[in-house]
Amino acid sequence: MSSKNTPIIRIENLVKEFRIGFFRKRVQAVRGLSLEVQPGEIFGFLGPNGAGKTTTIKVLNGLIFPSQGKAELFGMSANDIRAKSKVGFLPEHPYFYEYLTGFEFLDFYGRLFGLSRSIRPARVERLLEQVGLSTARDIPLRKYSKGMIQRVGIAQALINDPDLVILDEPMSGLDPIGRKEVRDIIFNLKDHGKTVFLSSHILQDVEMICDRVAILIKGQLRKLGTLAELLGEHSGHETELTVSGLPKMTNEQIRNMAKRVVIPGNRLTVVLDEQGLQEAMQLLLREGGKIESLVPLKGTLEDLFVQQVQSPEAE
Ligand SMILES: Nc1ncnc2c1ncn2[C@@H]1O[C@H](COP(=O)(O)OP(=O)(O)OP(=O)(O)O)[C@@H](O)[C@H]1O
Ligand SMILES: [Mg+2]
Repeated sequence: MSSKNTPIIRIENLVKEFRIGFFRKRVQAVRGLSLEVQPGEIFGFLGPNGAGKTTTIKVLNGLIFPSQGKAELFGMSANDIRAKSKVGFLPEHPYFYEYLTGFEFLDFYGRLFGLSRSIRPARVERLLEQVGLSTARDIPLRKYSKGMIQRVGIAQALINDPDLVILDEPMSGLDPIGRKEVRDIIFNLKDHGKTVFLSSHILQDVEMICDRVAILIKGQLRKLGTLAELLGEHSGHETELTVSGLPKMTNEQIRNMAKRVVIPGNRLTVVLDEQGLQEAMQLLLREGGKIESLVPLKGTLEDLFVQQVQSPEAE
């Protein structure tokens, strides 16, 4: 059972195997995954297509069962009805009854969760407000834009006032405004003490909102940590230097010291590693020239992701 220090999600050595095709060939979608999510975290679950994210999320929601290992929510089995009642879920491909209005749709889900008639209307109105759909409450879902559908889907995931919200690609197909709205909703959940577990391919969003991320590749955990940890370790301590007014020779020397030349020419921009930077600075002190800018480069989550997906480490 849960106590104060119990993680909200605990996945231990999770293996999920499917059997496919006529010969019932085994495929392992998840291969020995372990991770924990702590109360109040926004946790990003990343990985390329087919990595096993949705499969893991289905196990967490009790929709499919582990082949091996375990998945716990609030210190209980993910299949425990008491755990399920504290979870809200936005599936990857939600199916909605498109002839219902936003209000009717949420009211319907409220009934499914056994919310009494006396509290349902107020709860639904509050959720519509929270996701910015109050003015669309009486419009049928088939007239909703993609962004509105995604938001009503999130509202649906919140109908039971869950402590843990699991969102499978909540930003998919949204324009920049829609993505910002979804980010704001997620921040707001965190402010209210909720824990959020989300999968996404939109790494800028993940970088903006997640406290910690896991990168899953071919069903195995490749990286896990805070963004600062993962990006710090990935940065490689590079600096981008822009100089102007150098003699041709010196310009050439600096280009040779660089890891790469961003913009060649009289106003030169290069990326240097630590040693290259030292050498370039000494040269500049001797030869003159104007330093236009000097910017330490931080790795992006995208760089890290691409590097991890391309490296054969987990084979
Ligand atoms: N019901 C199933 N039967 C057979 N194979 C399955 C089943 N569900 C998933 N798989 C396989 O398991 C692997 C992982 O799929 P999953 O949907 O979990 O990936 P994902 O990380 O969510 O990918 P995406 O980013 O594309 O959503 C894939 O190879 C997929 O084909
Ligand atoms: Mg998926």
